[in-house]
Amino acid sequence: MLSHTVDGQGELTPAYASRYLTRSVPRNRLPEERMPPEVAYQIIADELNLDGNPALNLASFVTTWMEPEADRLMAATLGRNYIDAEEYPQTTEIQSRCVAMLARLFHAPDGGRSVGTATVGSSEAIHLAGLALKWRWRQRRAEQGRPADRPNLVMGHNVQVCWEKFARYFDVEPRYVALTEGRWVLGVEEAVELVDENTIGVVGILGSTYTGEYEPIGELDAALTDLNARTGWDVPIHVDAASGGFVAPFLRPDLRWDFRLPLVRSINVSGHKYGLVYPGVGWVIWRDHRQLPEDLVFHVNYLGSDQPTFNLNFSRGAGQILAQYYNFLRLGRAGYTEIMTGLEGTARYLADSVARVGPFEVLSKPGTLPLVCWRLRGERPYTVFDISARLRQRGWIVPAYTLAPDAEHISVLRVVVREGLSRDMAELLVSDIGRAVQDLERRAQGDPAARDRTGEGKTRGVC
Ligand SMILES: Cc1ncc(COP(=O)(O)O)c(C=O)c1O
Repeated sequence: MLSHTVDGQGELTPAYASRYLTRSVPRNRLPEERMPPEVAYQIIADELNLDGNPALNLASFVTTWMEPEADRLMAATLGRNYIDAEEYPQTTEIQSRCVAMLARLFHAPDGGRSVGTATVGSSEAIHLAGLALKWRWRQRRAEQGRPADRPNLVMGHNVQVCWEKFARYFDVEPRYVALTEGRWVLGVEEAVELVDENTIGVVGILGSTYTGEYEPIGELDAALTDLNARTGWDVPIHVDAASGGFVAPFLRPDLRWDFRLPLVRSINVSGHKYGLVYPGVGWVIWRDHRQLPEDLVFHVNYLGSDQPTFNLNFSRGAGQILAQYYNFLRLGRAGYTEIMTGLEGTARYLADSVARVGPFEVLSKPGTLPLVCWRLRGERPYTVFDISARLRQRGWIVPAYTLAPDAEHISVLRVVVREGLSRDMAELLVSDIGRAVQDLERRAQGDPAARDRTGEGKTRGVC
């Protein structure tokens, strides 16, 4: 988060101060004195109790639990800087193996020799892929002797905020396909209408952040192939598979969304979502080396060796990359398939049950991401924000938010099904949702026994 300088002389006065610390500690100023490690630890640990409980956080796609062996591996490698390839050659080698595995999983034509890199998450991966699209388009324009000063990128209005960031930071005009009632994702015809000779690419999302739906990437590929043939352009597709990249290959192996489609030139995926690694790792894979212009790659002569890098930052921890490899070895295709099948089963159970316990319409569809997204049916004297606030009192973090622009008048609740949400927990959640609805209905009918607990607001920037 961007922090601003904090005014005031706030002080921390820990409750256990009389036993461990007899002076107060400044909150926003570097303390003049040191303190014992266990006291520093306890002050922070106590304050973190105010955070939500990660196990009940059904808002996020991001992993909150890994096996003790992965924890051990990560703890042992916390001090390892991923960029120091000369010092940690095996870490670099393991990163390359992960890239090769993902390229094969995504059906790159020459999987073992594909180009890609680990990133901090899908956002960094998307910035890199977007830059490669822009560079490739500029090269083509230069070869044709045509101006290259007004690049644009076509995408659905449901893109995650990182795409808006990319467009603004790197001076690309974003062209959004409007959503319509019942179509909460990109429409192919509408997307093609926005494309022109200055289009650096079209984005297809495998798993919309808002509803989990897969965009029709196969149809998009066919329509753009036709357009390119008619116009002589070469408009490619980037697939934002932040979540779906680790779901579709295991649950819908026959769905053609990846490099099996000729116009798909690059794909991003978040290792820390359904790749099942703690936060801090994503991946971007290009179809082949021609899709990554050489002048985007920096050859840094650092600490004794030539290192080709294409990342926005330099140093980063190696632990998440090693943990990704741990998952690949530990789970293999069978393990990921089993886990994803379980999550899909829980999502189906939740979708069916939610529709039974309240006046709800489920918007998410089976066969997409394992999440459930639903809205209230008809006019009600309470909102989804009220329901979210009631669930929060039980500890559940179930976000209520408005859909993407054009559909902002629709407010929904969303539960992301991750490994921690067992069937037992899902059953408890369903009964708490039912109770929250009954309570709110009774309150609306003036029943004084229904306690007054409301929460109005909107959650933005879902991730
Ligand atoms: C479709 C999509 N793209 C990109 C992102 C950004 O991913 P990350 O959090 O890995 O940077 C998200 C996050 O939820 C997402 O759902």
